[in-house]
Amino acid sequence: MLNGIHLAEKLIRNHELSMDEYVKLLEQYQNQDIVKLLADEAVRLRKQYYGDKVYTRGLIEFTNYCKNNCYYCGIRAGNRNAVRYRLTEEEILSCCEEGYRLGFHTFVLQGGEDPYYTDDRMVEIIRSIKTRFPDCALTLSIGEKSEESYRRFREAGADRYLLRHETANDEHYRKLHPESMSLAARKQCLYTLKKLGYQTGAGFMVGSPGQTYHHIAEDLIFLKDLKPQMVGIGPFIPHHDTIFAKESAGSVEMTLFLLSIIRIILPQVLLPATTALGTMDPQGREKGLQAGANVVMPNLSPVKNRKQYELYDNKICIGEEAAQCWGCLSARVEKAGYHLVSDRGDAV
Ligand code: 5AD
Ligand code: FES
Repeated sequence: MLNGIHLAEKLIRNHELSMDEYVKLLEQYQNQDIVKLLADEAVRLRKQYYGDKVYTRGLIEFTNYCKNNCYYCGIRAGNRNAVRYRLTEEEILSCCEEGYRLGFHTFVLQGGEDPYYTDDRMVEIIRSIKTRFPDCALTLSIGEKSEESYRRFREAGADRYLLRHETANDEHYRKLHPESMSLAARKQCLYTLKKLGYQTGAGFMVGSPGQTYHHIAEDLIFLKDLKPQMVGIGPFIPHHDTIFAKESAGSVEMTLFLLSIIRIILPQVLLPATTALGTMDPQGREKGLQAGANVVMPNLSPVKNRKQYELYDNKICIGEEAAQCWGCLSARVEKAGYHLVSDRGDAV
């Protein structure tokens, strides 16, 4: 078996490693020589494909009702303490309106799996957004649906879909989710979304309870096989009303290390520096950009609802207006040496 540096060099050459090699490499996440080697290569690749542009996605958290019970998530159905809300179509459109004025050309509609938003209602919302903002990309992040539903949303104009696989290991998946959910179903959704022509995003939490280096290695191998256009990763952060309330949060260093590795495995991927990363470290998103990320996702949800979309504790940006977040992020991005742009930012 090669040592750490040689494994990093092999990853840079081959854009993939074997399971055992990934595990060995992951063990080195605090070895600064290796961290720097991979971050430099990640940045080189992101510049080769995307220059110094950072794309921005306006996140609209339109419902926190959810029929599922993912054990880690603050808005799971079983959390009686969550104060629930739904945005009307008009409210969603006015979030887009404000975002458009600020320069957003991608809107991400994210919500729990909320049966109130039937396929008919979703199609109606998708059509109105795409009619009103034809030059914008629309991303959905509303969980597992049938192929028929995904097809209808696509035909109505949805361009992209985010569905993190959460973990690519079956046993670990069962530790994080109730029996009604399965990794097989989740993976099937992802392959279906790709088949239907969505720019598709997968991803996972870093440091979720029970996660091992082996599990992360499986995540990396799964990502290489799926070849998603987007990958969302962020540290796990405990939520006080879940069974994982007392677990420790995921590591910022490991998240940054993984951002670099994912950039190298999938050089053209759209990779956000996530809000969870910014929650765990005040400079987390800047560090994410310097590790290979090229997307930020500021919040466009109405300020009155932001606190209620509480997936984990201490989430940042819950008090700021959209314009403040745009200004704040733009300054952060510049400081990190990049430029926040208004482009749709499709995968190249
Ligand atoms: N900590 C960090 N990320 C979380 N998510 C859900 N709950 C948490 C948590 N406690 C992530 C999941 C989900 C995305 C929308 O948010 O990965 O896919
Ligand atoms: Fe929202 Fe900084 S990004 S306040």
